[in-house]
Amino acid sequence: MTIDPKTELRRIQISLPATGEEECEAVRESILSGWVTQGPKVAAFEQTFAELHDVPHALAVTSCTTGLHLALAGLGVGPGDEVILPAFTWIATANVVLYCGATPVFADVDPVTNNIDVADVARKLTDRTRAVIPVHLFGLCADMDGLRAVLPQGVSILEDAACAAGASYKGTPAGGLGDVAAFSFHPRKSITTGEGGMITTKHADLAERMEKMRNHGAEISEEQRHHGPSPWRLPDFNMLGFNYRMTDLQGAMGLVQIGKLEQFIVERQQRAEAYCEALADLSWLRMPVIPTDGRHAWQAFVTWVDPAKAPMSRNEMMSILNDRGVATRPGTHAVHELHYYRDQYDLKPDDFPHARDCAANTMAIPLHNRMDDDDYAYVTEAIRSLG
Ligand SMILES: Cc1ncc(COP(=O)(O)O)c(C=O)c1O
Repeated sequence: MTIDPKTELRRIQISLPATGEEECEAVRESILSGWVTQGPKVAAFEQTFAELHDVPHALAVTSCTTGLHLALAGLGVGPGDEVILPAFTWIATANVVLYCGATPVFADVDPVTNNIDVADVARKLTDRTRAVIPVHLFGLCADMDGLRAVLPQGVSILEDAACAAGASYKGTPAGGLGDVAAFSFHPRKSITTGEGGMITTKHADLAERMEKMRNHGAEISEEQRHHGPSPWRLPDFNMLGFNYRMTDLQGAMGLVQIGKLEQFIVERQQRAEAYCEALADLSWLRMPVIPTDGRHAWQAFVTWVDPAKAPMSRNEMMSILNDRGVATRPGTHAVHELHYYRDQYDLKPDDFPHARDCAANTMAIPLHNRMDDDDYAYVTEAIRSLG
């Protein structure tokens, strides 16, 4: 049971990282070792992550946002290029396109899966389209076969796998479903390193380019330089890069967390199925899709409040639940309705009606690895009592 230490009332957070003594010990060891920037722990974390997602290359970075940016930069996306992405996503998916000087082109989403609508992607393609960013929102993989079928040769696929560590689609893990992918280790994700991210790719040349760009475009890594035989040698730089290196403290924490990912997902899956069963008869609340041809990573459990049938508005529900100690959140943003994008591109809410409705009607309810049976029963009962 989770109790708020200030009010001593039950408080069930929307998400809580499942971290403890093991993570503390791993970070402590790194601190005591004296190697605190990207080093052996990051390398081991990358290797484990790559094996688990069945991809040859994994590169740790400072966040999923910087990972997405690095991926687009590595693909050579720049001014004059267009990148298609879903209108219902976290703002970072769109911002990274602008960081490259390219143009974000929104596509609507499927209101049942919350993922990019492939038919709308097909309508948005032009001869300037360089890449598409399907988002595996909340841990459910996008329709990758459908997407591939509509894309012409030469259009790259960057998976926004922020929520999808451990997810899979038709037998292939997320991270190997496109040309390149970026994952997040923000604390609202299943595994965390505080902030942090991971890029995966099957293309060796792209991996090599991104590895250099992660470290200012340096020809050799800090580690190679440090352990190399030529103390006088500084790296040469023949491309523009960034400092997107993960610290070894995070690498050490990530290594512990990735070892628990499978267990975390299994637990989340059981809880998600139990929610679906316990709330199935509420005609006004639609449960998230459980895929039959892949694995949902259950980063979040996002329901849909049907405005035509619900006993009150979604926002009123969220307020009542909050008063009872149950945290909820809208699924994510309709990015085209956010001021910056709305003003910059003269966008109207109705331009992407499904994204608009998803933002208005979705309600994420608590799902994380620090909830116990009592917490789940409490959340279920609090929702059922709404009407
Ligand atoms: C779909 C999506 N993309 C990108 C991001 C950015 O991740 P990060 O916070 O690691 O930069 C998030 C984070 O919430 C996300 O949900």
